[in-house]
Amino acid sequence: MKTVCVFDSGVGGLSVLRALLAHLPDVRFVYLADSGHAPYGDRSPDWVQERAHQITAGLCDAFRPDAVVVACNTATALAIDSLRQRWPVLPFVGVEPALKPAVALSLSGQIGVMATKGTVDSARFAALRQRLESTHACHFHAVACRGLADAIERDDPVAIRGLVHRYVQALRSMAPEDQSIDTLVLGCTHYPFVADIIAEAAGPGMRLVDTGEPVARRTRDILGLGSACHARAPLPKFFSTGDPSVLEGLVARWLGLDTAARAWTA
Ligand code: DGL
Repeated sequence: MKTVCVFDSGVGGLSVLRALLAHLPDVRFVYLADSGHAPYGDRSPDWVQERAHQITAGLCDAFRPDAVVVACNTATALAIDSLRQRWPVLPFVGVEPALKPAVALSLSGQIGVMATKGTVDSARFAALRQRLESTHACHFHAVACRGLADAIERDDPVAIRGLVHRYVQALRSMAPEDQSIDTLVLGCTHYPFVADIIAEAAGPGMRLVDTGEPVARRTRDILGLGSACHARAPLPKFFSTGDPSVLEGLVARWLGLDTAARAWTA
């Protein structure tokens, strides 16, 4: 049975794990929440790169995975190239804001992107955005949602609501007067867990897009698993560099899994 390690700056990558579990029930998963160092969004690119290397090295030593899913847009944007260089034989699957699917869905061509500062400012995001804007009739309006992943990490409903309203409002004011944003990309893996609050703030008719499903399909392809599932894997193992009981509670609430999380020191 294949083993896949999944990591994020914190609990947000559980939104990716949810899709992975649905598409790859025959894979053994290990999830590491780096909550002790979250959020990554405002850290320097060098710091995020170093941290992603440290985590990957620890996961490789402990679990010898067949693939690693970087379930964090920020770490993917800032570190996935260097991870692939350092571990050339190990397959990495990254998570990027779903700009391309959003282009296919949008009727107005005006697309909002909510992501961390690290992702919005990255060269990788700029290149993807430019490529699509130069080949399709579309325009991306990106807002760096400072503090939002952290508020989700802290499970602070008042802060979440306030920040969501502020950033959705900011996006609205970026669109031209005669065309409104009709599609909103959730470019941080923490945000799908507050999708209902974002949808409510954005109003009716706004389509929200995230990346869990395509990442799960890509992971299945990379592992060469085909569509038939012959075995059922045991429950994933969960680790946190922060408080494991917080991860445990969110795993129960968001994934419906009753299982222990353990502390990870690295
Ligand atoms: N969940 C992460 C992402 O997808 C990062 C959030 C953060 O730590 O700032 O970008």
